[in-house]
Amino acid sequence: MTPSPDPKPLQYSALQLAWLHELGIDKPWLPGDARAVPATSSGTQAEAPGKAEARLNGAAVSNPSAAPVTTTRAPTRGAASKPQQAAAPMSAVSIAAMTALTAAAAAAASDLESLTLAASACQACGLCRQRDQVVMGQGVTQPAILVIGDGPGEQDDRKGLPFMAESGALLDQMLLTIGSARTRDVYLTNLVKCRPPGNRLALREEIAACQSYLVRQLELLRPFSILALGRVVAQSLLNTDEPLQNLRGRVHQLEVAGQTIPLVASYHSGHLLNHPADKAAAWQDLQLLRTLRR
Ligand code: URA
Repeated sequence: MTPSPDPKPLQYSALQLAWLHELGIDKPWLPGDARAVPATSSGTQAEAPGKAEARLNGAAVSNPSAAPVTTTRAPTRGAASKPQQAAAPMSAVSIAAMTALTAAAAAAASDLESLTLAASACQACGLCRQRDQVVMGQGVTQPAILVIGDGPGEQDDRKGLPFMAESGALLDQMLLTIGSARTRDVYLTNLVKCRPPGNRLALREEIAACQSYLVRQLELLRPFSILALGRVVAQSLLNTDEPLQNLRGRVHQLEVAGQTIPLVASYHSGHLLNHPADKAAAWQDLQLLRTLRR
């Protein structure tokens, strides 16, 4: 099948070009054209989610911010400019190089606002070409619970905020049952900050490309505990292929940037909408999370 034409050609800032030069890439490439990219130095290959924990552990930068924040919202791009057709996939090498740029930009962000600005300019994977807005997160800093979902949905993309639709309403209800709320002691975010089209799950390379933003969020937010929603999130954060049934129902410890954060994995609220029988198990997981309260 002939790929559709790239609806929004990638453009590189002077800083990005300088970083590409550092990586040994002097000639930017067209999306999907791996031949135009010279071999990069080691350490810039795209990582599978299996590497997530090592990378999370490896991030050494720490600049905690205690200032409360309710919303981390990206500037809006005009909806009229949103391309409707599928974007051509980027090559793995392109994504690996852009991921290195992303890591540098994320690490340089001294607060959540500058992290949002960096993400708003991000072109590390193909999701950037169809996003309306980057969805960084919503809630308070130093949250009792950092909820991590898989990626923004259509309404989230339009509003620039996470969990705005039906699964978000159920999540809000679930959190209320343990006395928590996104306006009080919770921060909501996702593995990927741009909406995967058609409500599909994020791909491994998209998760890897976006990982630096999550790591930096963890450093800046300093959550007390993490609720990992759904299989993809739990497996990615815990660096495992084990099924969710084996991962839920117990407390894991996530090592990240000098912090050890207790993590509970559970069913995604979107899954619970279609599988109400699993709500009982999700309830148990929330109770477990509540026992971790500071
Ligand atoms: N909206 C989000 O922000 N994340 C999810 O995982 C689902 C919907």
